[in-house]
Amino acid sequence: MCGIVGYIGDGNGARRIIIDGLKRLEYRGYDSAGIALAADGRLAVEKSVGRIANLEALLASSPIDSHAGIGHTRWATHGAPSRENAHPHTNGDGSIAIVHNGIIENYAELKEMLIAKHGVSFRSETDSEVAAHLIGLFYEGDLFAAVNRAARELRGAYSICAMAAAEPDRIVAIRKDAPLIAGLGENCNFLASDIPALLKYARTIYLIENNETVLITRNEISIFNERAERVKRDVFHVTWDADAAEKGGYDHFMRKEIFEQPAGVAETLNRRLDENGGIRLDGISLTKRDLERIERIYIVACGTASHAGLAGKFAIERFARIPTEVDIASEFRYREPYINDRTLFICISQSGETLDTLAALREAKSRGARVLSVVNVVGSSVARESDDVFYTWAGPEIAVASTKAFTTQLICMYLLALYMGRTLGTLPDGEYERVLSELRQMPDRLSALLEDEPKLREIAKKIYKNERVFFIGRGNDVGVALEGSLKLKEISYIHSFAIAAGELKHGTIALIEQDSLVIALATQDRLFEKLLSNIEEVKARGARVIGLAKAGNREIEKQSDEVIYIPACADEVTPILAVVPLQLLAYHVAKLRGCDIDKPKNLAKAVTVE
Ligand code: AGP
Repeated sequence: MCGIVGYIGDGNGARRIIIDGLKRLEYRGYDSAGIALAADGRLAVEKSVGRIANLEALLASSPIDSHAGIGHTRWATHGAPSRENAHPHTNGDGSIAIVHNGIIENYAELKEMLIAKHGVSFRSETDSEVAAHLIGLFYEGDLFAAVNRAARELRGAYSICAMAAAEPDRIVAIRKDAPLIAGLGENCNFLASDIPALLKYARTIYLIENNETVLITRNEISIFNERAERVKRDVFHVTWDADAAEKGGYDHFMRKEIFEQPAGVAETLNRRLDENGGIRLDGISLTKRDLERIERIYIVACGTASHAGLAGKFAIERFARIPTEVDIASEFRYREPYINDRTLFICISQSGETLDTLAALREAKSRGARVLSVVNVVGSSVARESDDVFYTWAGPEIAVASTKAFTTQLICMYLLALYMGRTLGTLPDGEYERVLSELRQMPDRLSALLEDEPKLREIAKKIYKNERVFFIGRGNDVGVALEGSLKLKEISYIHSFAIAAGELKHGTIALIEQDSLVIALATQDRLFEKLLSNIEEVKARGARVIGLAKAGNREIEKQSDEVIYIPACADEVTPILAVVPLQLLAYHVAKLRGCDIDKPKNLAKAVTVE
């Protein structure tokens, strides 16, 4: 998820206005940035690594005045953060410049063709650069035509803004499955991937639809369909303030990111599935021989990531039959773990900068383990120091409380486990297809589940004054109980506590008294009856119980004061759905308690200290 901005107008304010706009898009990605400005018959391009402020400082040292330009703030997916990989990208002679948000799925074959047939030399590792060369290839003095001709070669998701040195008074943009808007200013016009970039200068905007091309000059915005016919579009008047706009109209980044989960899960899943139902591990070569040599797997992480590890253990042992242990990183490195060159060390981290996790990785690597990481931030320390990286494509996660990173981490763990099982031949007939079909349905099931938010808001109103909450579960629900408890405690500051339901009787049940609140997860079909008995246990001691079960398991209503249902799905993958009501419950409880939801006290988004 990157941020793009285009501006054209009177005067020479393009540099400042584009930088302003990019700063407002930093929540979409901030590992590198760049700008291209029309100046003296050419396109002046400046790029830098890091935050927008670095680009601003670079430009301040040699200011370029211009009336038109395009800018970009990057969230790396292909190619680590670097000056070469930063946008804008240009064609060979620099006469065309583009900025791109999205992913060009067939970039490898296009790159190969451009090199082999047209002798193009590439400067970056990105997918985006192929668009610059293609537009350059088809350019014959008409940028609009060249952009449309090039787009016909692209597959994937993209919103692209393009400029030509020979046409300094226009910018052309095209959109497919990645957001793009156009803004009407005073003697100036804008393009952007999102509203916050424009708010300081324009509140009247056009929402550009798929397969549409936009041509902007200082006086006009023209929108065309894929047959190059001009289309009429109603304007949209933005009433949000800038802060609300960065959150896409949501009150908090956390809620925005909860609602981004269907897209994040779809993105992380679908681009790994090939047309024959196989799983692509993005260049991770885990051959059958490699897998047969593995005698033990450690999954090591912290916090939410470690809870994803528990689901990963469940799946790997079930599908690939390889002994798998989950450990929290801060303990792993000090317990002298048994590691050798037949150990696979799987490290999960959203930020890729958590020091405990990084230190555990280094420990494992130094003792001969193969390191495979599941990471959300491209080019992060964990990613760079791993032998293999399996990226979650959740996009930037801004809220301290991790949500969309968790569900996309689960997707990666399930894909890995299925891949291993299929490669080793340890999956019973039809199991691979069955579970993969369950995963394919997850984006829609998540969307349907999010529609139940009003029910969770109502439950939150009943429980937000509690100062103590217990989460219980069995099997695959234990990890989700831990995650639900962590969500609640870290943003509402309620003392919540998660425990395997079977453990209650070994001590913890002493704490259950009249009106104790217990959230009981009962999604595991084969453990459902046992969980019902655990509910009986706590009810007998006066507890109030909120049950969480698959749709149709209405028996739980007899023992519970409230029941939250998730769409029916296979036991192996219930965590993807079961966590969502708990995320929403935690969010609404914290909101009712007036807590700082996106930046809870004492917490940081990446814990880079021991
Ligand atoms: C989760 O909501 C917390 N923010 C925290 O537990 C987090 O998951 C943990 O610090 C690990 O972070 P990482 O995934 O970036 O390594």
